[in-house]
Amino acid sequence: MKEEKPIAQNTNELFHPSPEIIAQANVKDPEAARLEAAKDIQAYWAKRAEELDWYKKWDTVLDDTNKPFYKWFTGGKTNIVLNALDRHVKTWRRNKLALIWESEKGEVRTFSYHALNREVCKFANVLKSMGVVKGDLVTIYMPRIPETVIAMLATAKIGAVHSVVYGGFSVEALHGRIEDSGSKVVITADGGNMNGKKIELKKIVDEALQRSGAPEHVVVIKHLGIDVMMEQGRDFWYHELMTLPISKNGLKCETIEMDAEDPLFILYTSGTTGKPKAILHTHGGYSVGVHATLKDVFDLKEEDRWWCTADPGWITGHSYIVYGPLIAGATSVMYEGAPTYPYPDRWWSIIEKYGVTIFYSTPTAIRGLMRFGESWANRHDLSSLRLLGSVGEPINPEAWRWFYKIIGKEKCPIMDTWWQTETGMFMMAPMPAQPLKPGSATKPFPGIDADVVNAEGKSVAPGEEGFLILKNPWPAMMRTIFKDPERYVKTYWSTYPGYYFAGDSARKDKDGYFWVIGRVDDVIKVSGYRLGTAEIESAFITHHSVAEAAVIGLPHEIKGMAIHAYLILKAGNEANDTLVDDLRKHISHELGPIAKPEKIEFVTSLPKTRSGKIMRRVLKARAQGMSEGDISTLEE
Ligand code: PRX
Repeated sequence: MKEEKPIAQNTNELFHPSPEIIAQANVKDPEAARLEAAKDIQAYWAKRAEELDWYKKWDTVLDDTNKPFYKWFTGGKTNIVLNALDRHVKTWRRNKLALIWESEKGEVRTFSYHALNREVCKFANVLKSMGVVKGDLVTIYMPRIPETVIAMLATAKIGAVHSVVYGGFSVEALHGRIEDSGSKVVITADGGNMNGKKIELKKIVDEALQRSGAPEHVVVIKHLGIDVMMEQGRDFWYHELMTLPISKNGLKCETIEMDAEDPLFILYTSGTTGKPKAILHTHGGYSVGVHATLKDVFDLKEEDRWWCTADPGWITGHSYIVYGPLIAGATSVMYEGAPTYPYPDRWWSIIEKYGVTIFYSTPTAIRGLMRFGESWANRHDLSSLRLLGSVGEPINPEAWRWFYKIIGKEKCPIMDTWWQTETGMFMMAPMPAQPLKPGSATKPFPGIDADVVNAEGKSVAPGEEGFLILKNPWPAMMRTIFKDPERYVKTYWSTYPGYYFAGDSARKDKDGYFWVIGRVDDVIKVSGYRLGTAEIESAFITHHSVAEAAVIGLPHEIKGMAIHAYLILKAGNEANDTLVDDLRKHISHELGPIAKPEKIEFVTSLPKTRSGKIMRRVLKARAQGMSEGDISTLEE
């Protein structure tokens, strides 16, 4: 791969916003907003919380009596659906479009706030009729279709807790997540369209449920119209349930009043052990956080057409496809399929067709589309665009400039947002009225105090690399790891006691701009998707030929990082291309195509510490022809 100069060195290149951008910005002076919030973060967040509706206002903004189990807006009563739907349908917005959806094949469906609310109420009644009550877990495993949004909102409305599993995951990943959550109901579809292929989701669910203690019910949306197995008494068609008398009286489904701190969802994310961890978010603080960040960073206005290209199965989708835009009363575009189907101008044609004004995407997608040349973008009128955004991994300056010039026509600032599943909302991001540096997520959002420290927890000098930490709690922060509070404390709050350890390395330049470099733990960001080395290694071991596995991430021109696997075979297995093919298929079947390794190498030993821990750092250094660093703990 061509090595670019480390992006953190290009600190002199500044892009200033135009006077028009500044004039219309929701936050005219971001620096002043940051200073103001820093003076009194509780007062700041209370002010932001006032912008939302509450059944009952909070007694305490921040309860930090049991650190790091922070609580926000305690005593407050709300439900995210109160702000995402209920308050809008009481106003003129009931007739405003909430969602414009296009399938990969080109079908279009639209939902006004009224229509979306009606479907949510109907489905909430269906869930209730299935015995789902406050606090129950519901797994949602879906393609990118409106019913995903409906299912999430319906679950939240009745106080149940959703666990959305990305539709690109496969049997073992899904099985583990259903089993760990103890879900009562699984909501899925017969399948989804992706890049001209049909992904048979129900089939994957059936196989996963053979491995799990099965949930009581499976609700199946007919999207592709393909044949699926329906187990009597367990599986029900969504369209049939939605016409039952129980759901007919759709508009009469009460939104359950929740405590601000009641759980809203769990979302599994990869970490350093084989078992993915379920990050838990709550109704009150999360609503406030996603609302404030979307409004300020993306300058959302009533007349905007917002498009976040993520999948609802990831945190970006939860916060900025589903909840943030709906709380804002915005009109969102959602597209089911691949950006290159049938041609590499699909996204640009969608921007043109619906007049998208704000477009939020990923560096991997930009790099991938860049590869096809600018003519695909140039054949579309992209003049509706006002702002662009990027998330998921560092954006290299080359991709940044292409995005800025070819898509944004040098008039749309790019909001590079740094955050995580755990943070729930943007932690670091520019605002439109501030100068940008390509490759930098710029500065912390108001109320967020970030720093870069060395191993001892001391701030490093400007330009020096260190570990990224957050010093203040914030409302949309995770509250715990579901069923594992000890792991929550150990993973995030023990490295630098009192501070949140993000797991990323970064630099801060002399102007206070942050440059996130990448993960320092065993998380690999493949195309911006977060995968744990341990989960992939465990999946390898389930193949009959594999004795031991080690997986690392190495730089890749398009994907950012790609998976390289080193395997020790069990005696009697021959290392050949057929086996490589078979192993790649195995990983795809168990975890999903996103986890497919770029390269598989067969080895006779793996570098390990004396206690038997694989030293991935050594593998990585060897693969890149670099010094292996300190190998005094290496066994052999
Ligand atoms: O390494 C950082 C990278 O993505 C990680 C979080 O991944 P996930 O929980 O899947 O959430 C992704 C979407 C919010 C971070 O620890 N990351 C995310 N955004 C950026 C980024 N790295 C650099 N720049 C970003 N803008």
